[in-house]
Amino acid sequence: MTRAPIAVALDAPDLETAARWAQAVTPYVAVVKVGLELFCRTGPSVVDTVRGGSGVDLFLDLKLHDIPNTVAGAAKAVAGLKPTYLTVHASGGRDMVRAAVDAAPDVTIAAVTILTSLSQGVLDAVGLAGPPLDAVRRLATLAVDAGAGALVCSPQEVAAVRREVGDGIILITPGVRPVGADSQDQARVATPEQALADGADLLVIGRPITGAPDPGVAAAAIAASLPARLAD
Ligand code: C5P
Repeated sequence: MTRAPIAVALDAPDLETAARWAQAVTPYVAVVKVGLELFCRTGPSVVDTVRGGSGVDLFLDLKLHDIPNTVAGAAKAVAGLKPTYLTVHASGGRDMVRAAVDAAPDVTIAAVTILTSLSQGVLDAVGLAGPPLDAVRRLATLAVDAGAGALVCSPQEVAAVRREVGDGIILITPGVRPVGADSQDQARVATPEQALADGADLLVIGRPITGAPDPGVAAAAIAASLPARLAD
């Protein structure tokens, strides 16, 4: 069976829970995502634990942002874990994104444009004036020019980002909620179908799956709801 283009966010409190969720969902989804909190708490061994024997792709969401030399060192250090995707902040600049790309040539570097948690007011306060979408498009272009093979953006921005960078760049969208699901703290959400129709390649979905009584059943249901053409 083809696995759906979904990255399940394993935002678990401990290794055992992450491993249980991963085992439940990997028959149905193409990717599992390990974020900063789980990685910091459990260490690099979490990667092999959640991957198990499933062959699922690993999304290491560390959102690196430092001087290029340091980011290169960190990217090289985690490249040995063989993640498929590793995130960095595009706002670290062209040289920093390029440093990650060069240090981990077998890993797709996914650049985060503007965090969806940052409001217009926060962006103004940090000196990023102008409409957030302008900054998103600028950062998307910068990151792609620096060699990033993927971008992380909100479902609301994905159509504009697709127009900006064209085909061939993997667009990853968090903030995805099936119809009727609780949006929780995600302010700007879209359904899986809408996000894919707007140009997303990979949907990051966490709590609608991991918070369900049976994460495997929830993952299977969302996967089955995707348009067949796009789920292939
Ligand atoms: O549970 P939920 O579906 O909201 O999980 C979304 C995941 O995507 C979380 O791991 C969150 O950290 C991540 N994320 C996000 N918004 C971004 C970047 C990453 O929600 N802009």
